Amino acid sequence: MSLLEAQALYGGYGGVDILNGIDMRVEDGEIVVIVGPNGAGKSTAMKAIIGLVKIREGNIRFDGQEITGRRPDEVARLRVCYVPQEKNVFPTLTVHENLEMGAFLRDDDFSGQLEAVYEIFPALVEKRRQPAGSLSGGQRQMVAMGRALMLEPKLLLLDEPTAGLSPLFTDMVFDKVKEINATGVAILMVEQNAKDALALADRGYVLALGRNRHEDTGANLLANREVAEMFLGG
Ligand SMILES: Nc1ncnc2c1ncn2[C@@H]1O[C@H](COP(=O)(O)OP(=O)(O)O)[C@@H](O)[C@H]1O
Ligand SMILES: [Mg+2]
Repeated sequence: MSLLEAQALYGGYGGVDILNGIDMRVEDGEIVVIVGPNGAGKSTAMKAIIGLVKIREGNIRFDGQEITGRRPDEVARLRVCYVPQEKNVFPTLTVHENLEMGAFLRDDDFSGQLEAVYEIFPALVEKRRQPAGSLSGGQRQMVAMGRALMLEPKLLLLDEPTAGLSPLFTDMVFDKVKEINATGVAILMVEQNAKDALALADRGYVLALGRNRHEDTGANLLANREVAEMFLGG
């Protein structure tokens, strides 16, 4: 049984379907990457999984239970955590407060997880009292990922975590994704840096027009001529 399995998803915003029958799965321990042109429905697919977009047809199972149509907080409690592409930190709160906000659904002691997040992102330790809005884009992305980790996700969804970042920070984010994955967290990630992302992925999906266009291992997608010509810039 897959950790996450979405079957034949249709849905979108206000009655217009953006998703036209998407299938997607993530196995335990995998890094799965979604690529595709702008407007393909990549972000919408992620939002459908975590309950931010209405699903008209199809179903989603996570960790053995049906989660189709559940509210975002209910999905998060099952430890599916999502980092949106934009507005993913509270800019006026400090780094530390942002991380604490990530634990708002927890009523247990999360101090150990705070320490674990600072260990993954040591650069945040000296910034902990600064407002998140004062950080560089790369540092803000670390805060956003750290905040999502506060719920100790089984599955972490990342929507274009390297968007707008320098090559240095892009490499750093990809390294952190691998490091987080190595602790046992499955990753589902949308990426525009398609070649680099597919190179680190176990499997990938190419979406177009709200449908699955290609699905294969990261290596096979990189080697696929149509994928390369149409979606990876030749
Ligand atoms: N909040 C929204 N309300 C209405 N339409 C939206 C909304 N968000 C995205 N869309 C539309 O849905 C389509 C897919 O968008 P999106 O999932 O963001 O694509 P991608 O992430 O692949 O670039 C686009 O045509 C976009 O204009
Ligand atoms: Mg998007």
